[in-house]
Amino acid sequence: MRVGHVQLAFRKLATLSSTLLVLVIVAQWGCGDDQGPKDIDTSRASEFGFQQSVRTSQIEEGGVAYKTFCIGCHGEFGDGNGKAARFLDPRPRNFIKARFKFSSTRAGQLPSDEDLRGTIIGGLKGSSMPGWDMLPARTVTALVAYIKTFSPKWQDKSLASAIPSVNDPYRAIEDKSAAIARGEAVYHGYATCWTCHPSYVSTQKINEHLVAMENSKRNAFRDHLFQSERKPNSEGEMVYPPDFKRDFVRAGAQIEILYRSIAAGISGTAMPTWVDSMDVASSHDSNVALTSSADLWALSYYVQSLVLTRPSHLEPVGLAMRSRPQKILKLGEAFVPIEEVIDTGSTDEEFSEDD
Ligand code: HEC
Ligand code: HEC
Repeated sequence: MRVGHVQLAFRKLATLSSTLLVLVIVAQWGCGDDQGPKDIDTSRASEFGFQQSVRTSQIEEGGVAYKTFCIGCHGEFGDGNGKAARFLDPRPRNFIKARFKFSSTRAGQLPSDEDLRGTIIGGLKGSSMPGWDMLPARTVTALVAYIKTFSPKWQDKSLASAIPSVNDPYRAIEDKSAAIARGEAVYHGYATCWTCHPSYVSTQKINEHLVAMENSKRNAFRDHLFQSERKPNSEGEMVYPPDFKRDFVRAGAQIEILYRSIAAGISGTAMPTWVDSMDVASSHDSNVALTSSADLWALSYYVQSLVLTRPSHLEPVGLAMRSRPQKILKLGEAFVPIEEVIDTGSTDEEFSEDD
């Protein structure tokens, strides 16, 4: 009985995360209206003082595209409450709050236009956010302009500064094994990424790495060291940091993207801004057991090497683990086991129900 429920729950989850299905929902709910430019409300833009910098026609163009492609999930008002949103975990981004996760600026700061363009074109793997690489470049640019009209935060340009760019010392070297080995050492012995992500080496090996990095040995390690440790995010949920051997990295596993995620950190989550923990100014000297900014690249190659071992097909149960944010309980609130949380969700019939 119980097992049946759990299976059903996972089947539902797997179905829900199918972008195809969601796109159908989006198409159904998003495209119903008349979409002439005359419908696009550009008053927010002038209210927030965008008029001088962004052409109104561009915002109109972005608005039309938004109503066609994005409204079903991100909602008419940009609050992330589109009609499909209640079926989605993680939830679509709320553009009014303007807290973006993936950026080349420090965690907590607004992303650059280029970051937003990259997210829109590439999508976010392991979430329902599709990649929109079929859209013309000017439409993507217009969408970025339109998204920004949802929040007055975008007026203050001083809010964002790009993380320092550091050359990739391993770029020209074809054999990346030295980078990967260095990355493993920094991951386990210096940055101790395994306090949140899994450890990928034995506790004995962690201690060897710690000592090599002039840190002290540990006698005790956290429970479930070889799995991710759930951490709270700014939406009041507990989320699993990815297990690189099993989960998707959302923004992508290209080396520059991993570097960006690791160096800049991820806004609204426990993922720290690592560029601030590294000695950015000094040059890399591999004889010294101190980390330099070049080690951010070593970490990126190491993480990429783990991601490459990921099976091409994930069992629904594996997928469910990551895409399973849980509400943080308030004092006195009853704990509801995860299978019941999923189980009391929508039935298939509810899908066709008009809200
Ligand atoms: C099928 C649902 C869906 C559709 C359609 C969709 N999105 Fe998303 N979008 C999401 C979800 C879910 C997230 C959050 C993923 C996460 O938190 O990891 C997201 C996140 C984002 C982000 C935030 C990235 C960040 O760094 O935090 C942007 C920007 C974005 N979407 C833009 C768009 C645009 C533009 C469109 C239309 C062209 C669109 N989305 C269509 C589901 C959708
Ligand atoms: C304090 C906890 C914590 C530590 C320490 C930590 N991370 Fe993370 N990391 C997270 C969380 C939480 C996420 C998931 C954010 C999300 O998508 O909601 C994450 C996500 C990531 C991602 C995925 C980016 C994507 O596109 O989805 C990468 C890569 C990453 N971390 C690398 C590292 C590396 C390398 C280290 C050590 C240098 C590290 N992390 C240390 C909490 C942590």
